[in-house]
Amino acid sequence: MEKKPRSLHEALSGKLADDELEMVPRSFDVIGDIAIIELPDGIDKTLVGSALLETFKHIKTVAVKKTEVGTQYRTREVEVVAGAGRTETMHTEYGCRYLLDVSKAYFSPRLGTERMRVADKVQDGERVLVMFAGVGPYAILIAKKKKPAEVVAVELNPDAVDYMKTNIKLNKVKVTAVLGDAGEEAKNHGMFDRIVMPLPKDAGDFLDAAIPALNKNGTIHFYTFEKDCKEAETKVKEICEGLCCKIHVDECVVCGSYSPAVSRICVDFRIEPRYS
Ligand SMILES: C[S@@+](CC[C@H](N)C(=O)[O-])C[C@H]1O[C@@H](n2cnc3c(N)ncnc32)[C@H](O)[C@@H]1O
Repeated sequence: MEKKPRSLHEALSGKLADDELEMVPRSFDVIGDIAIIELPDGIDKTLVGSALLETFKHIKTVAVKKTEVGTQYRTREVEVVAGAGRTETMHTEYGCRYLLDVSKAYFSPRLGTERMRVADKVQDGERVLVMFAGVGPYAILIAKKKKPAEVVAVELNPDAVDYMKTNIKLNKVKVTAVLGDAGEEAKNHGMFDRIVMPLPKDAGDFLDAAIPALNKNGTIHFYTFEKDCKEAETKVKEICEGLCCKIHVDECVVCGSYSPAVSRICVDFRIEPRYS
């Protein structure tokens, strides 16, 4: 009986020239049963797709990245190259289920641990605002695992909001899903004990809306792309000083990478009492 390959590279060995094999990444994202891989031009995508299906039985569709995450909705175009011809899937993370279309809404399986880190900090009775909520992974996890008084989740992409509403029902949680601009909506839902800002490229532009909605001693989880925590903290402090606030940083974590020199960083901070 033919042995099942243990890795993508093992499955491709002998099928691609050595120099081509070197160009195939060893890692790729898996969202639900869809593998999403980045391949350089010239590599036979169907061959790689079939090798992935052969190697990993839980993968049913293989999609190749066509563009970077770049739009306002942080979506990317993908090309399905093998398996079931669909881009909708169900992803499970920390006991929560998320239905989503990988080509219509942003979702990164790499951020699961970071979402849990934030959820773990939520205290009973808190009001929580998730400003760039996507298909709901922060908001739903918090509502499922903790006992907040209310979770409000704001998202601009109508497709993502539709999936978030489905996911709220699927996970039997109470989350208020709002379609709209987080900067505008931050004014409309009262005051919060915790505000999550998972939009690393542009979150700084929304601090002027988030800070007035933050209760005294409340926490902001601010995401940014910087070289290291020192640069991330400096950036947040400068923006907040420009808004006439001094901040106290409780924690700063590197929670992913954007490029070899740039990390995804979360700065957890509160506003110093005399400025809030
Ligand atoms: C990096 S994704 C994060 C999504 C989600 N929090 C997650 O972890 O999967 C950022 C999300 O912010 C949304 N977005 C961008 N600008 C926005 C705005 N002004 N107001 C609300 N949502 C916005 C995008 O559509 C996208 O879904």
